[in-house]
Amino acid sequence: MKKITVPDIIDMKRQGRKIPVLTAYSCPIARILDQAGIPIIMVGDSLGMVEVGYDTTLPVTMDEMIYHTRAVVKGRKRALVVGDMPFLSYQVGLDEARRNAGRFIKEGGAEAVKVEGGVRMAEVIRAIVDMDVPVMGHIGLTPQSIHRKGGYRVQGTTEEERRVILQDAKTVEEAGAFSVVIECVPPDLAGEITQILSIPTIGIGAGPHTDGQVLVINDLIGLNGEEKTPRFVKRYANIGKLIASSVEEYIKDVTEGRFPADEHCYRTQR
Ligand code: KIV
Repeated sequence: MKKITVPDIIDMKRQGRKIPVLTAYSCPIARILDQAGIPIIMVGDSLGMVEVGYDTTLPVTMDEMIYHTRAVVKGRKRALVVGDMPFLSYQVGLDEARRNAGRFIKEGGAEAVKVEGGVRMAEVIRAIVDMDVPVMGHIGLTPQSIHRKGGYRVQGTTEEERRVILQDAKTVEEAGAFSVVIECVPPDLAGEITQILSIPTIGIGAGPHTDGQVLVINDLIGLNGEEKTPRFVKRYANIGKLIASSVEEYIKDVTEGRFPADEHCYRTQR
């Protein structure tokens, strides 16, 4: 089983092979995704929302990201692991950005990091790439900009927004990123960017014309409560329902004396 590397991901675009990406935050889920054959596992700062229950990704810290990245790296054998740089880990200076990117590699065991932002983050991307840490860009809807943007809404619907996002895409590639996430933009814009760039584009809510797709694992398997999922999510299972029915059955078994049964008990040797 060959380990997936950054050059392998770039080659997938050259060969016209689609790139499926999923998030994971724990060792057991990472193991399952890896064994199922996912080429990239992203330890997204979405963990703050889907695992901790925050309203935004903004409170997530570097230490929390490193902890979860370590867990994911323990669970995977083959997939490339990308650590998502959280808010305030790369915005306040190039040295801090370099140090935090390095922590993902040295302490977390990741092989690449993700940075939100286009033109505004060109220097940061360049600085991290210059120390040989591969960077995945992230443009379009960037959840760490939630307060400036005023909500999680589709981007690139006006001519001006479109021009800005196209420029962001080109700048991220020029700054040395090996791939770029494009979030919540109309499919034709994502398709145009995918045609222009030589690095792989990974879409989320960006239609079918990108080189790859990424989803949050909790959305895909139905582990996000009864909350309304965004339009771009396809739910493949309802694990939440399965957990609930297993727990209800367990509660009944315990309260009605069916668990533990004989086969769950240790024997004395006499
Ligand atoms: O934080 C995250 O999980 C992400 C992906 C969904 C792109 O940024």
